[in-house]
Amino acid sequence: MRVIVTGAAGFIGSHLADRLVADGHRVTGLDDLSTGKLENLSGARKSKLFGFHRFDVTSSDLPVLVARDEPDVVLHLAAQMDVRKSVADPLHDTRTNVLGTVNVLEACARAGVPRVVFASSGGTVYGTPPKLPASERMTLHPTSPYGSAKAAGETYVAAYQRLHGLAGCSLRLGNVYGPRQDPHGEAGVVGIFAGALAKGQPTKVFGDGTSSRDYVYVDDVVDAFVRCLGGKGDGRRLNIGSGTGTTVRQLHTLVARAVGAPDAPEFAPSRAGELQAITLDVGQARRALGWEPVVGLEQGLAQTIEWVRSRKR
Ligand SMILES: NC(=O)c1ccc[n+]([C@@H]2O[C@H](COP(=O)([O-])OP(=O)(O)OC[C@H]3O[C@@H](n4cnc5c(N)ncnc54)[C@H](O)[C@@H]3O)[C@@H](O)[C@H]2O)c1
Repeated sequence: MRVIVTGAAGFIGSHLADRLVADGHRVTGLDDLSTGKLENLSGARKSKLFGFHRFDVTSSDLPVLVARDEPDVVLHLAAQMDVRKSVADPLHDTRTNVLGTVNVLEACARAGVPRVVFASSGGTVYGTPPKLPASERMTLHPTSPYGSAKAAGETYVAAYQRLHGLAGCSLRLGNVYGPRQDPHGEAGVVGIFAGALAKGQPTKVFGDGTSSRDYVYVDDVVDAFVRCLGGKGDGRRLNIGSGTGTTVRQLHTLVARAVGAPDAPEFAPSRAGELQAITLDVGQARRALGWEPVVGLEQGLAQTIEWVRSRKR
């Protein structure tokens, strides 16, 4: 297949590019390198199947690329992904995360691209769900411009399917962690704990440590995108997580154990606006995609810590 990946130089996008190339697909990556790094693509760029373009996803270069490439599917991951930045500068967030998404969809519709898969956020679109795990049937109550932009993106994907017949799927990702992750992303705490503990530096837990998240390993997320290539997710919004909540205190214990460091974080007052708990019901993704998260937290953390250590060498 011919695939365009937006946000290809980022954490998840680069793993996706690696997997697609390994599976024999022709991949065009685009990224403005605002947070992404070319070094993330050092593996993919060795392949003749991979090409890279540096530009802004909101620019007029995008429809030109899509029309020229005639992809079978566009996987749209380019985004401003820092929730705090979205609160500090909502217009910048909206420009990239809403206008960028509309630019992608419009380009696909005009070029007759059959399908698009959108990286949404299970950690932010629900807000505080009435019960856990959060299911796709629940009403969305985002509490940040970032979450609102992801919820809007999903409705644009659905509207373009109805309006233009552009098949679309939105994957509501949990807190994704793994090698190459950015400490400012939604699962940034894994990178922060791992980086600090590996260097023997102090760590801080905000609040009493009971707030919990649904951590999902990046390879499992990549597998969900790959399963959507042929249309299994069309017309759906699917949670992609582990289905289990892990508290920040438990996470610290697991990271400290894997690093071989003392499990003794400092506690600091909780930060305003932080969600108390989120866990995602992944039953629909199981049924629709035949997808299953297969990498357990301890195994995934060990692989992430190995990567953190390899960067220090
Ligand atoms: N990491 C998570 O836990 C998580 C959770 C839910 C959803 N997501 C979503 O998954 C996608 C990938 O996230 P990630 O964690 O890999 O983040 P990331 O920042 O590593 O990747 C995003 C990429 O988009 C690029 N980008 C940003 N603005 C751009 C623009 N205007 N034009 C072109 N490229 C631009 C960045 O340079 C970066 O390479 C994002 O859409 C994010 O919102 C991530």
